[in-house]
Amino acid sequence: MSDGASENRFDVVIIGAGPGGYVAAIRAAQLGLRTACVEKDPTLGGTCLNIGCIPSKALLHASEEYARAGKGFAAHGIKLDGVTLDLPAMMAHKDKVVGDLTKGVEHLFKKNDVAHIRGVGAITAKGEVSVRAADGATRVLAAKAIVIATGSASTPLPGVAVDEQRIVSSTGALALAAVPKHLAVIGAGYIGLELGSVWRRLGAEVTVIEFLDRIVPGMDGEIAKQFQRLLKRQGFKFKLGTKVTGASATSEGVSLALAPVAGGEAATLEADVVLVAVGRRPHVEGLGLEAAGVALDEAGRVVVDDEFRTNVDGIFAIGDVIRGPMLAHKAEDEGIAVAELIAGEKPHVNYDAIPGVIYTAPEVAAVGKTEEQLKEAGIDYRAGAFPFLANGRARAMSAADGFVKILADAKTDRVLGVHIIGADAGTLIAEAVLAIELGASAEDLARTCHAHPSLNEAVKEAALAVAERAIHI
Ligand code: FAD
Ligand code: NAI
Repeated sequence: MSDGASENRFDVVIIGAGPGGYVAAIRAAQLGLRTACVEKDPTLGGTCLNIGCIPSKALLHASEEYARAGKGFAAHGIKLDGVTLDLPAMMAHKDKVVGDLTKGVEHLFKKNDVAHIRGVGAITAKGEVSVRAADGATRVLAAKAIVIATGSASTPLPGVAVDEQRIVSSTGALALAAVPKHLAVIGAGYIGLELGSVWRRLGAEVTVIEFLDRIVPGMDGEIAKQFQRLLKRQGFKFKLGTKVTGASATSEGVSLALAPVAGGEAATLEADVVLVAVGRRPHVEGLGLEAAGVALDEAGRVVVDDEFRTNVDGIFAIGDVIRGPMLAHKAEDEGIAVAELIAGEKPHVNYDAIPGVIYTAPEVAAVGKTEEQLKEAGIDYRAGAFPFLANGRARAMSAADGFVKILADAKTDRVLGVHIIGADAGTLIAEAVLAIELGASAEDLARTCHAHPSLNEAVKEAALAVAERAIHI
């Protein structure tokens, strides 16, 4: 137990200051709990702010602007000569955004009176977290409640050792010093397609190698097919149903050994840089969970009940380190909920209403069930779809690719899933999330007045299409 000094006694100690942990800390402090947040890295904000959501979106936006300036503006009567890339300036913009936002979290901690404790945290006894600082000093904190919010890290691929130079994880791919001539991406998921898009737009040839016979597993199949078609049109090359069996890196580049998953002839692929993006795994090493008796599942995630309680009294867990999608907004909502639970309130996270967005061009966004999931569950549904080609605003923006698809219960008309591929899909999905959260019907969406001319009208039209009464198609 701690030395008893009052500065080391807290109601809640949170380990990890990502979007799960830092939001939980702020909410706990707002509720009057004496709160500490332990973070091993020099800056706050976790994966999301430092090496995830924010830097990737800064580069996605910048590279999209570059591509538009190079090719897209001409169709709108804007001629630009000599558009050139200043990669160091693009990276500096990204780094500044990250720096500003991580400092912003420090400011929020001060404002809310959250104690920011620097160092590696471990649970060393019941109600006790020991923190080892960079200089080796150890501080022992006493906590009535402990929240594990230690997030996740890239899953390694056997035989393809990441050196963050030639063979990179997402972290290295966010900081390449030059545009690779040929980027090979292993894994056609969120990271592979977002960061593949960044470097493709900046001039790299991009080949995506995917184990399965489709891209973005988990997304609606029809959307995935359209997505792959549009990415191919942008110059992406795909090798689906293919596994990487080894990699050898030299100072010149990387040679990847490939084999068809279904069996057949092996091949090699030469690339300047290889991005390994085959998923992420929970970060639990060195936390003392085994000694504390905290149970993990077969995927190495901390097991929690509906109220984020582990099997050990007084220890909770949230975010990427537990079950569910590895998304920042999911971690944040759980952070708020766990703080409120510890304070004696009765919050609830609705896992049926968590959107997923891939921030490519066009964007892909989804909430609720896919058509495949409804079929598998034997749920009788009706589908309505509407293409952006028939949306006036999309045509004016030269952004007519993609469509909105709404799946509603055949009997009750309740919205069960919404899937969008198109410009600004990540923003458009918000009304669908609200519809699912509030238990709305497709008719509710269809009868809601949508501003004209807006991209959102495609959502209204898809809702009308569920009842086979779309107006503009
Ligand atoms: P994390 O953000 O991983 O934070 C965990 C924190 O705990 C880290 O700061 C870590 O240093 C700290 N920690 C770990 N162990 C200890 C210890 N023993 N002691 C002290 N501190 C410790 N999600 C989205 O929703 N939208 C996106 O656009 C998006 N883009 C992404 C892009 C990339 C390239 C990546 C990699 C991820 C992206 N994600 C995105 C996922 C998102 O980053 C995560 O879901 C989110 O960060 C999880 O939050 P968390 O708080 O659970 O964990
Ligand atoms: P992912 O799970 O999205 O995709 C991994 C892909 O790799 C899958 O298609 C999988 O089938 C494939 N794969 C697995 N093993 C393979 C192998 N051996 N060879 C070839 N392919 C293989 O994981 P990713 O892209 O690494 O991202 C991790 C997580 O981070 C995402 O699932 C998401 O939760 C989060 N994220 C979210 C973003 C967003 O919200 N916009 C952006 C980036 C990441």
